[in-house]
Amino acid sequence: MRTIFKNAAQIVTVSTKGKNLKRGADMKDISVLTSHSIIAENGKIVDIIPTESMSGVKFDNETDLKGKVILPGLVECHTHTAFAGSRASEFRMKLNGTGYEEIASKGGGINYTVSAVRNSSKESLKRITHQRVKHFVSQGITSLEIKSGYGLDFENEIKLLEVINEVNQECGIDIYATFLGAHTFPVEYKNDRRGYLNKIINEMLPYVARQNIATFCDAFCEITAFQPEEVREIFKAASGLGLKLKLHSEQFNNIGGLEVGTESGVLSIDHLEVINDEDIRKLATTEIAAVLLPGVSFFLNYGFAPARKIIDNGGIVALSTDFNPGSSHISNFHLIMSIAALKMKMTIEEVISAVTINAAKALGISDRTGSIEIGKNADFSVFNCEDYSEIVYSIGSNLNEMTIKEGKIIYSSSGD
Ligand code: NIG
Ligand code: FE
Repeated sequence: MRTIFKNAAQIVTVSTKGKNLKRGADMKDISVLTSHSIIAENGKIVDIIPTESMSGVKFDNETDLKGKVILPGLVECHTHTAFAGSRASEFRMKLNGTGYEEIASKGGGINYTVSAVRNSSKESLKRITHQRVKHFVSQGITSLEIKSGYGLDFENEIKLLEVINEVNQECGIDIYATFLGAHTFPVEYKNDRRGYLNKIINEMLPYVARQNIATFCDAFCEITAFQPEEVREIFKAASGLGLKLKLHSEQFNNIGGLEVGTESGVLSIDHLEVINDEDIRKLATTEIAAVLLPGVSFFLNYGFAPARKIIDNGGIVALSTDFNPGSSHISNFHLIMSIAALKMKMTIEEVISAVTINAAKALGISDRTGSIEIGKNADFSVFNCEDYSEIVYSIGSNLNEMTIKEGKIIYSSSGD
């Protein structure tokens, strides 16, 4: 079946000319076309042609974009969407001046959500996760990553990954599951780090790989979580089992996570609020995406990652909400785009590259999505505006009108 997508005011292609990523100055070049149409067949983009050359050609299906702006389907590459409970009481403590790490040391933080997840049935976790995924889809997101990391024992980590996989079957977009058993040490292993590492390496990871319920293995490298040598050991086991790697690092402290990440061959290093200049230069020589999470800085009210320096040194910057109950209770991807522009001084074009092709790069899927180029999936988001700058300018608003996955309309704001 051949489908034409026609009458867009702008096609923001984010074309990479075969590179499937944008680094440094190239992030500003998002290759906008006017008076063109996109032709898709069997879920893939087969042509992008000037509208005047179309007269008389017949298609099985026509989607009239009515003078709106079409972008590649947005890619949300770092979330903790599968969680139960609320940490609003911690939010109150934060507003009264108590720090994030202090709250965690008093029994709040990640382990608070772990209790809530352990006390939740799989069905209720699935219901709430599905609801949240729908919200992402309504924003134009066609590829989404979701981590476990709030189970922290065999039964509950697997429960979370199964929930993510089941929601993936039902939601119309591609969801990539990440095993984050190394999010922090669960309370019962506080004084037995070796015991928990053994659980991850000898029990959880082999099962996750055998059941094929996660694409990635992630770890949180931080003073209060996993030390670099512990991350190295987990990553060695995970990659030996065929999992791809991602890393949370340099959020509060620089303890050498970046080095472990680069040595281990991670696809992305995420957070980087406190990355130093030397590491910025090192990172820019690699193909590792720097996933920046300005919602965390906004929510916890601390310094933003040095996006400008990373881009100016030639890095591959992606953006994400990091949606989670404790450090970024923000599921509005468009708001994150605006915060990145305002607070991290990224240009509108850089922001668009960061939520499309570079976010796809962070998930290892940029050969098939993240830009509007021949041969890629027909994954699109259609925005109710005549110029793409409105998307970042309309702070906190959802201008997405239509989400299209592999050529099919899976969400329309009009409900059709
Ligand atoms: O990415 N940094 C570690 N993990 C999450 C926060 C999780 C939580 O507080 O529940 C993050 O910011
Ligand atoms: Fe995170």
